[in-house]
Amino acid sequence: MEPPSASPHRGHVSWQGILLAVSPLTFWNLPTTAQLAIESVPFTAAEGTDVLLLAHNVSENVKGYTWYKGERGIDSHQIAIYLTATQGIIPGPAYSGREMVYPNGSLLFQRVTLEDTGFYTLQTLSSDLQAEKASGHICVYLSLLTFWSPHPTAQLTIEPVPSDVAEGRDVLLLVHNESGNTVGYHWYRGQVTDRSRLIVSYSNITHSATHGPAFSGREIVYPNGSLLFVNLTKEDTGFYTLQTTGDNFDTEAATGEIRVYGESWNLHVQSQ
Ligand SMILES: *[C@@H]1O[C@H](CO)[C@@H](O)[C@H](O)[C@H]1NC(C)=O
Ligand SMILES: *[C@@H]1O[C@H](CO)[C@@H](O)[C@H](O)[C@H]1NC(C)=O
Ligand SMILES: *[C@@H]1O[C@H](CO)[C@@H](O)[C@H](O)[C@H]1NC(C)=O
Ligand SMILES: *[C@@H]1O[C@H](CO)[C@@H](O)[C@H](O)[C@H]1NC(C)=O
Ligand SMILES: *[C@@H]1O[C@H](CO)[C@@H](O)[C@H](O)[C@H]1NC(C)=O
Ligand SMILES: *[C@@H]1O[C@H](CO)[C@@H](O)[C@H](O)[C@H]1NC(C)=O
Repeated sequence: MEPPSASPHRGHVSWQGILLAVSPLTFWNLPTTAQLAIESVPFTAAEGTDVLLLAHNVSENVKGYTWYKGERGIDSHQIAIYLTATQGIIPGPAYSGREMVYPNGSLLFQRVTLEDTGFYTLQTLSSDLQAEKASGHICVYLSLLTFWSPHPTAQLTIEPVPSDVAEGRDVLLLVHNESGNTVGYHWYRGQVTDRSRLIVSYSNITHSATHGPAFSGREIVYPNGSLLFVNLTKEDTGFYTLQTTGDNFDTEAATGEIRVYGESWNLHVQSQ
């Protein structure tokens, strides 16, 4: 008795042999010259980046393409049909709005998500009504950058209240869109988070403030991160940067501006 591992190979060979013997027409369908192939570029993609599914060995006389999600090419998983005659796409049930089909059959998948991981199938239809099919795989990995950079849906912002303030008055630098996991706030003078420019730090864990080299004695930090700046002088005009630290060590930064006007400017405005 033969080992079972040998039989599938032998079966495959004889199946091809039968087809060749039965019909010479079938011969043209066999992958003898150039077989359609799909290549994912890049091979693995970070979440939020673009992936190109390159269609290789597309036959010359192609009339249209159909892209499917999955390996089987099921109608309900159809992403889009591209017709070379109209150069336009017809979106299918699996179209997400992030896919683009090029005239050469390649599919551009924009801003991929983890859920996009999986197989994709291209079916081509040529003018002699020959259909060819090939599948490729998209592999999306979670990008650490997604944690480090401010999330696009909730960007940390600083709002000075009021936006212009008279000399001798107070301004509150309000913190908006602060992520829920902040454990520390650091306020800096200027647009850089340089240690020498630190005004004050606040720890959400110890609930205490620590003054830095740029502290003037007129800044009060609140537990929600907002900074009250009292008795302003014209020299306080400028940029102020807040850096927050999250409980997973991620940091976010945002800059706000304080504009202090003097009495002469104030009078000038009032006289207008
Ligand atoms: C094109 O088809 C040939 C023949 O089937 C194959 O050897 C080759 O790998 C294909 N090209 C690509 C890029 O897959
Ligand atoms: C198909 O077209 C796209 C866009 O022009 C291009 O980036 C890609 O390299 C082309 N694919 C092949 C296999 O030439
Ligand atoms: C919160 O973040 C969103 C997205 O970046 C932004 O559109 C919105 O203006 C921010 N809210 C405030 C109060 O700054
Ligand atoms: C820090 O304070 C902010 C504002 O009060 C709050 O939303 C956040 O949950 C606090 N974080 C921790 C770790 O207590
Ligand atoms: C932060 O706290 C201060 C003082 O309690 C308050 O005036 C301010 O409205 C708070 N900021 C936000 C964004 O809630
Ligand atoms: C505000 O600042 C000015 C100049 O620095 C000082 O003379 C004045 O006493 C301060 N006022 C208060 C209420 O702190």
